[in-house]
Amino acid sequence: MAFLEIKNISKKFGDSIVLNDLSIKIEKGDFFSFLGPSGCGKTTLLRIIAGLEFPDAGQIILDGVDITNLSPQKRNTGIVFQNYALFPHMTVFENIAYGLKIKKIPSTEINKQVGDVLEKVRLIYKKDQNISLLSGGEQQRVSLARAIVMQPQLILFDEPLSNLDYSLRIEARNEIKRLQNEIGITSIYVTHDQSEALSLSDKIAVLQNGIAAQIGTSKEIYFKPANKFVAEFVGHYNLFDKESSAELFKYPITDNEIAAVLPEHLSIHKTTELSRVIIKDILFAGSFVEYILDHKEVIFRVISTTSDKAFTIGENVAVAATRENIQTII
Ligand SMILES: Nc1ncnc2c1ncn2[C@@H]1O[C@H](COP(=O)(O)OP(=O)(O)O)[C@@H](O)[C@H]1O
Ligand SMILES: [Mg+2]
Repeated sequence: MAFLEIKNISKKFGDSIVLNDLSIKIEKGDFFSFLGPSGCGKTTLLRIIAGLEFPDAGQIILDGVDITNLSPQKRNTGIVFQNYALFPHMTVFENIAYGLKIKKIPSTEINKQVGDVLEKVRLIYKKDQNISLLSGGEQQRVSLARAIVMQPQLILFDEPLSNLDYSLRIEARNEIKRLQNEIGITSIYVTHDQSEALSLSDKIAVLQNGIAAQIGTSKEIYFKPANKFVAEFVGHYNLFDKESSAELFKYPITDNEIAAVLPEHLSIHKTTELSRVIIKDILFAGSFVEYILDHKEVIFRVISTTSDKAFTIGENVAVAATRENIQTII
């Protein structure tokens, strides 16, 4: 039996179905992400796991115990919120010690446990600082420390990096990964950011219209998307219909199928023939160059890591992909 079983969970708000008979199994020690666009029900599902919301139908089974109807305090889960939800008038130490004090842990023990966790998140030197004086990244680490110190069976992250700017986000992401590796707590991470989910997770569930469109490892989801939605949302695949697929790649598909190719799996070449593929734009992004192409008003993208200055906007080019890099999806 899986460590956490989300079994046939359904949830409506008014007339809108947010979760529709959703089932997901999570193994002990895994870093598992729920990935999906804004409004797809990620936070709702996380709140149901935490006991902050109750499902209309279905069960949550944690380590063999049905916790569906338990209050949040009776579940051994920790949450790291998007806005950190720290106590602004308290110090770092007081914020982290708060839950232990409520549990009436002796103060010498509290000092030890908070000290240990502050070492883990590398914030021991900020122990007595007021929360309001910390940077966003530091607050995020305090929030994580506050969850870890309670030694939860499960730690839940709700878009914890979304309030940080780009470089801090990368740093904080790596910090979360390092800590999870070190501590090994089963973690559920909610995000709408596919690169965050891909880089952090052992497994991902891609959520679409209240169901899991696909559950798999980062590589499975990226390289073998189960449907058009996953292909576009996670890998930003180019999608070609029967006619385009035949003309561009001589790759036959039926009317109901789509040929999907990753932008980095396409290459562009000089041609003397009239290819009907035109370079609409060239975007230099530092480590890669993105070409925006047009084939009979179908726009698609090629990403190249070699900055070939030989191409110009408006030029007629040929494109190619190897057979194994073209996928037929529905
Ligand atoms: N308490 C609530 N009452 C009514 N509608 C809600 C409530 N919570 C969430 N919703 C709606 O449910 C849908 C899913 O919300 P949410 O789980 O927050 O999505 P996500 O976290 O993926 O962005 C949204 O359309 C949202 O407006
Ligand atoms: Mg949310």
